[in-house]
Amino acid sequence: MNSTPPQITKAVIPAAGLGTRFLPLTKATPKEMLPVVDKPAIQYVVEEAVAAGMSDILMVTGRNKRPLEDHFDRNYELEEALQRRGDQDKLNSVCASTELADIHYVRQRDPKGLGHAVLCAAPHVGREPFAVLLADDLIDPRDPLLSRMAEVRARLGGSVVALMEVDSDAIHLYGCAAVEQSAAGGDGVRITELVEKPEPGTAPSNLAIIGRYLLDPEIFEVLRSTSPGRGGEIQLTDALRTLVRAGRPVHGVVFSGRRYDTGDRAEYLRATVRLACEREDLGPEFLSWLREFVRAEELAPV
Ligand code: G1P
Repeated sequence: MNSTPPQITKAVIPAAGLGTRFLPLTKATPKEMLPVVDKPAIQYVVEEAVAAGMSDILMVTGRNKRPLEDHFDRNYELEEALQRRGDQDKLNSVCASTELADIHYVRQRDPKGLGHAVLCAAPHVGREPFAVLLADDLIDPRDPLLSRMAEVRARLGGSVVALMEVDSDAIHLYGCAAVEQSAAGGDGVRITELVEKPEPGTAPSNLAIIGRYLLDPEIFEVLRSTSPGRGGEIQLTDALRTLVRAGRPVHGVVFSGRRYDTGDRAEYLRATVRLACEREDLGPEFLSWLREFVRAEELAPV
């Protein structure tokens, strides 16, 4: 008998949030379109899904998110202009986002939370397992996470959530998981309890949910009957907790690679600087400017 779960080909990217941490920029520009060097943050996330074999992407959007659709669509005028100029490199970069994947959109009409956004994906996803990638979390492509989560799922089935150890004074900003050893070994754990944004001092561990999930479609049924939780919103963490408490398999992979929270202004700046420094075309010059800048700052009188 071959019991290996099927390869996950569908990914859902919730992108309906208001992005209030980046106001006033996000008044008319979706936060997912914030540039990380010269690509919008969401393109890194789509590339990560595609690299893990997910070629069918559903974005759950809302009002004011048209620029997202335009970015992943063709722009004939621009393509023709670049063609006429013979600028093949720029033409390739413009076409890359269009050709990445098969991208679909659904609107989340009411801002009822992450769990509700995932539920909006139910008709598209159907009865297949699927991935959820939160666009604020940027995972460095050199530290693959989704493929490791897929290994754990292939071995143990059920749903798999990405976890990361954070400082105890930051855990109240995340979904938090209590875990025990699992048959997956190493970075694989079995989740025994979950709590969305625990009150300071009450978290059952320092393991935070970061925005990558491989979900069994049974989650939809649970989400339909999940009441609003933290912040008055329907929380994905609460639905996963229901599965855990019902004895359904929910596993975690503890990630120790590079992750940037582009939803936080300071982290966003750090991500941009770090990724710019690592770029072959920009890095050397930018880094030497940065060294100079830091030296001058250190010497400047306070
Ligand atoms: C969401 C989830 C939370 C998770 C976090 C990761 O929260 O609800 O469980 O830890 O993403 O980035 P948000 O940051 O959208 O409030």
